[in-house]
Amino acid sequence: MNALDTLAQLPRLNLRGFTSPVQHLECLSAKLGVEVWCKRDDIGTVGLAGNKVRKLEVELAYAIAQGAKHLVVEGSRLSNAARAVAAAAAATGLQCTLVLCHDEPSEAVGNLLLDGLYGANLRFVGNVSWAELAQHAEAVVAELENTGERVYRLPIGCASARSSLGFALAYAELHEQMASQGREIGTILHASSSGGTHSGLVLGNALFGSPSTIRGIVVAGEVYDDVPGQYLAFAQGGARLIGAQLELTREDINLTEDYLGDGYGLSAPGVMEAIDLLATTEGILVDPVYSAKAVAALIDLAAKKELEGPVVFWHTGGYHSLFDPHYSRKVWCGIERLSAMQL
Ligand SMILES: Cc1ncc(COP(=O)(O)O)c(C=O)c1O
Repeated sequence: MNALDTLAQLPRLNLRGFTSPVQHLECLSAKLGVEVWCKRDDIGTVGLAGNKVRKLEVELAYAIAQGAKHLVVEGSRLSNAARAVAAAAAATGLQCTLVLCHDEPSEAVGNLLLDGLYGANLRFVGNVSWAELAQHAEAVVAELENTGERVYRLPIGCASARSSLGFALAYAELHEQMASQGREIGTILHASSSGGTHSGLVLGNALFGSPSTIRGIVVAGEVYDDVPGQYLAFAQGGARLIGAQLELTREDINLTEDYLGDGYGLSAPGVMEAIDLLATTEGILVDPVYSAKAVAALIDLAAKKELEGPVVFWHTGGYHSLFDPHYSRKVWCGIERLSAMQL
């Protein structure tokens, strides 16, 4: 069996329940002067929407086969990964503990409200670094195992060699969808932080003979000491799991920090324009923490004629932060036509 067949037969859950559509964004394409499509991974149920669903479909099939009964994942108060894990745990009858790097907030809003509703146990460990957060998560795993729990730990953003296979499968899905429209994929552009999305798309692309350019728009700095090295390790590890003989190197990892702005969850140039443009031209929502930074890049790179079309903007989800008062205020004040309205 070749690696693509092994990939296609990988055990996985069907958490989203349907194949996410790919949509030609005609109005946006006309505005930007390049053919733009959108892979709508933002669509799903409230809990099981966004890019983490891809990773969890593969990772949880494996965890359940190993006999896991309790999931542990770390993240920020805003974490879409934590919320998706909480929802997936509820949907599959598993227990779940989220280790969150914030002081206990006074209000449960946005993803935090959903985490609680889905029945997750919440552990707040204060304002710590990503590395310290991982240590806290390990301590929680040890504590649960000491009480006899069968725990499966998911790393930050659910990024791993195994979960990157979820995105290699996603690449294959997109390839088929675009082919059925008679289109090839010139460039895929997406928001990137913990790396599972990028490494999986890079792997999928390589399995198909590298026909496309995969561009990761970095939205969180310093997730790892060596970010491209860690992404490459995920892609190579994923390749090994399906027996693919590929020569993946650092050159295959294509990341830019040009649109990171002040950092994770903080302002960046072009973000408000991106939210406004996509909402008003296509009725699609992007959030200020993740996907709007990728759309800001799309707008800027299209203006500079640096994108080979057709371009697929991979919508990784995350609209939930629009309903977090901190970000709703920022978005309302940051978009002039909204702030001009008297509320
Ligand atoms: C909405 C959204 N987009 C993009 C990303 C980045 O994906 P990855 O962690 O696979 O790099 C995340 C990760 O948390 C996310 O929640």
